Amino acid sequence: MKKIAVITSGGDAPGMNACIRAIVLTAYQHGMEVIGFRHGFRGIVEDLNQPLHPNDMRLVSQRGGTILLSSRYPEFKQVSAAKAAAQVLDAHGIGALVVIGGDGSFRGAHHLNQHWYGQVIGVPGTIDNDLAGTDTTIGFTTAVDTAMEAIDRIRETAEAMARVFVIEVMGRHAGFIGLHAAIAGSAEGMLVPELEPQPKLAEIADNIKRARSAFPDSSYIVVVSENLWPGGVSQLAKELTQATGTTCHAAPLGHIQRGGRPNAQDRILSMQLGQAAVHAIIDGASGHMIGVEQGHVVEVPIHLTFERDKPLDLRLVNLQRGLQQLNFASKVG
Ligand code: F6P
Repeated sequence: MKKIAVITSGGDAPGMNACIRAIVLTAYQHGMEVIGFRHGFRGIVEDLNQPLHPNDMRLVSQRGGTILLSSRYPEFKQVSAAKAAAQVLDAHGIGALVVIGGDGSFRGAHHLNQHWYGQVIGVPGTIDNDLAGTDTTIGFTTAVDTAMEAIDRIRETAEAMARVFVIEVMGRHAGFIGLHAAIAGSAEGMLVPELEPQPKLAEIADNIKRARSAFPDSSYIVVVSENLWPGGVSQLAKELTQATGTTCHAAPLGHIQRGGRPNAQDRILSMQLGQAAVHAIIDGASGHMIGVEQGHVVEVPIHLTFERDKPLDLRLVNLQRGLQQLNFASKVG
């Protein structure tokens, strides 16, 4: 019987548990055993193994976080760490490893693939959606839902008090959450790194001033990607307050965007990719990510997922830009 191992690695993402479930059930269906290692790559090196049985999978898909636990483990870049992991995997008689994670984890998977004879398969799990070769990643749409709900809540109080807010969303160095949350939250402004790596204070301030003078009793929300404004949104709010003469409030949403029950879309995606990962192993694949493009499951060489840039969807960029302008036009017109 072939044994498969699975880890969740890097930042956890809602849907990882549903993916583990699909991997375990599909593997058993094909007569294979599954072992998990807790805390990602560190757990392999330290042999923190945990057998995974279909019975353990009954109530996991609904839960956020990861039942296998995760960690960031930069030490895995070292050849000695990859070789140590290979030894542990061999000692357990494991023939294939599924890595559920984001770009850092896929770099680790690629590295391990060069130092281990077993098959290595990646499944994209990150709220950031910043992996090329897949339209979406596990956890992304749930994180957008969470950000949208937070923006809606801030909108109500902002509207009641006619306030300006700059709301910071996650994404590391990518603007996918920012773009989608800005559209869904009907934001008046959006700052994401792909479009404006160095946004200009005067421009943002001018837009706020014009909107405020045309419609002083309204709220005004700018969605800002993390790591974009030096000092974050608290600093941006201070600078905008000075530049506009209006108090601007900062709301960094932070890790609430990573937690929570996965939405239906993420559960379905996770199970689809988890099942396809096991099928890919049966077919002999290695060094590939299992992703989804236009509804179809695809296999992409894993190094291409982090070596290539993934662009924002221009149609959505234009949608947000157009609506921002129209919103403003209706206020001044
Ligand atoms: O990669 C997911 C993510 O949540 C990013 O959006 C964010 O920049 C980062 O992880 C935060 O990492 P940590 O929880 O380790 O601080």
